[in-house]
Amino acid sequence: MWGGRFAAGPDAIMEAINASIGFDRRLAAQDIAGSRAHAAMLAATGILSDSDAAALREALLTVLSEIEGGRFEFSTALEDIHMNVEARLKELVGEPAGRLHTARSRNDQVATDFRLWVRARIDEALDGVAALQRALLAQAEAGADWVMPGFTHLQTAQPVTWGHHMLAYVEMFARDAGRLRDARVRLNECPLGAAALAGTSFPIDREMTARELGFDRPMANSLDAVSDRDFALEFLSAAAICAMHLSRLAEEIVIWSSAQFRFVTLSDRFSTGSSIMPQKKNPDAAELLRAKLGRILGATVALFTVMKGLPLAYSKDMQEDKEQVFDAADTLLLGLAAMAGMVRDMTANRPALEAAAAAGFSTATDLADWLVRAAGLPFRDAHHVTGSLVRLAEGKGCDLPDLSLEEMRAVHPAITAEVFDVLGVRNSVASRTSFGGTAPERVRAQIALWKERLG
Ligand code: ARG
Repeated sequence: MWGGRFAAGPDAIMEAINASIGFDRRLAAQDIAGSRAHAAMLAATGILSDSDAAALREALLTVLSEIEGGRFEFSTALEDIHMNVEARLKELVGEPAGRLHTARSRNDQVATDFRLWVRARIDEALDGVAALQRALLAQAEAGADWVMPGFTHLQTAQPVTWGHHMLAYVEMFARDAGRLRDARVRLNECPLGAAALAGTSFPIDREMTARELGFDRPMANSLDAVSDRDFALEFLSAAAICAMHLSRLAEEIVIWSSAQFRFVTLSDRFSTGSSIMPQKKNPDAAELLRAKLGRILGATVALFTVMKGLPLAYSKDMQEDKEQVFDAADTLLLGLAAMAGMVRDMTANRPALEAAAAAGFSTATDLADWLVRAAGLPFRDAHHVTGSLVRLAEGKGCDLPDLSLEEMRAVHPAITAEVFDVLGVRNSVASRTSFGGTAPERVRAQIALWKERLG
């Protein structure tokens, strides 16, 4: 492509380090869409003849079908997807192929391709997140009022409802979707026509190519257009936070599916067996999801490290952007699908949840609150009295409701038989009616809202 300037071809090692065709072939469809838009624009502005543009646009479709059909021979000597496509165009249409690169450079070309690629993955990730939210919502609806222990420090804290716990993840994934949508808005400007870095002397129409490719507008500064990879970093950052959420849910599923908890049973479709222990049913998908953030966060750090300190405008360093993003996108999409499947299929074990909800003095806060409300104690004193009652029950090896009224009154005389009403887990969750609280009525209202939002 630059034979005019060079007397000798590259060393094999040079070719090996320089070539990106091994991975950027994944940009083929975007590269061809960009070239087709560019050809149409060159014809509309009179830079290229209509017949050349028509021939190029047609031949580009041929190349696309060859690539999609696995009939395209990629060449490392041709370095990257852009030059592989152009070389094949030359074979197909001859001379006009050499006119396609008028008023553009591989710098704006690759920036455009990559934006289109990331945009498509964002749209898929949004679908993936919505599917997962629907699966969580179905779980929430099935067990809106099932009582389970809520934890802090992974120690029993207060009873909550299964529906409430599921909805917490619906909220988390909604924020992930919001971040992806925000990133998409900023991504959706078109670099094409920035050319190498300075723009071009040809009378191009950048609005037209931007529109053709579904962008909102052309990027305003040609230097920025070819050197910006913020859109990839934003996608990776949003993906990393989402993968962190997947990891947290995955960890809960690992804990919940253990013989010690038995809060959920995973379906056979989403578990694995052991080659030596016949009784085992392992939550491998959840464990892998717990780990996958490592890859996505690794990709994020890698791309930040590539971009850090790069002067304007394009530097070849930026070719190192793609593999990280490709792997992170693949990982995120697979992870979302796996989690949606696992959640959809899993069965919550209501008796185990409810039995655990009552253990661990989970209604101690209700007792303290009652002492404040019914007996007028300052909360700090109520806290102390309740602590003494917990210690008493612990010593006797029983739960709070198993203490007799006399035993309780010996600790504080203001306690009456009414206290037993607040010691049950069902009453406890029903009383948490504050906005955002765990009461079944609140949970049901949130479920209704989410059903409307997710359609
Ligand atoms: N394969 C290159 C990349 O991915 C395309 C741009 C090459 N530009 C250049 N000036 N050498 O970054």
